[in-house]
Parts: sequence; structure tokens; C-alpha cells
Amino acid sequence: GIDPNFDSNREHVGTENGVDVWGPVEPPEQLGIHGTHVAVDYDICIADGACLENCPVDVFTWVDTPDHPESEQKVEPTYEDQCIDCMLCVDICPVDAIDVDGS
Ligand code: SF4
Ligand code: F3S
Repeated sequence: GIDPNFDSNREHVGTENGVDVWGPVEPPEQLGIHGTHVAVDYDICIADGACLENCPVDVFTWVDTPDHPESEQKVEPTYEDQCIDCMLCVDICPVDAIDVDGS
């Protein structure tokens, strides 16, 4: 699953769609972690969609990630500042791709 200490173990390499990106990033195979308060490991996400469908405050949006080995879409935590820390996404993700601060 996602490393909960990614923000100290990884390098901040920029932003995409307004959210932080933590490397290493080497497209299309390696896409890093997106987000900080709500963080999604793009190299683990299989586009299950349960996080996006069930988040009570609609934090996530789909983005296309063509040719990534796990899935051709990922969820961007676009509205992570709206997160109410319910932890539903953390608990529901089948591959443990999401970390929310405090989990
Ligand atoms: Fe949404 Fe809850 Fe996950 Fe925050 S912890 S992103 S509110 S499902
Ligand atoms: Fe990806 Fe897990 Fe959501 S696989 S789409 S982060 S439920």
C-alpha cells in the first residue's frame, strides 16, 4: 500500500491539476503520489472507483493515465481541501492506494 510517510520519504516534484505530486515520476509507467492531505499512490491505484463514488464531499475526479501498467485512469484528489477526514476512502480502496492525514 501507499507509504504514509511519503511526504518525508519522497521528493516534491511539482503540481498537477492543482495538487502536489511526489516523485519519482517517469511517465507513462511511474506517476508518483498525487495530493498531500488526501494522497493517492498512482502506481498502486487500479481505478476501482469506490473512493470517488463514495466520498461524501466529492474530493476525487478522474484523470486519464494512458499506458500506466495498473490502469488507464486514476483519481485526482482535486478537492482535497474539502476532505472531512471520514476515512471512508482509506478503508474502501481494495489496494490501499490512499492515505489521509491522521490515518
Ligand atoms: Fe472523502 Fe472521507 Fe476520503 Fe476525505 S477521508 S477524501 S472526505 S472519503
Ligand atoms: Fe484507485 Fe483505490 Fe480509488 S484503486 S480509484 S484509489 S478506490
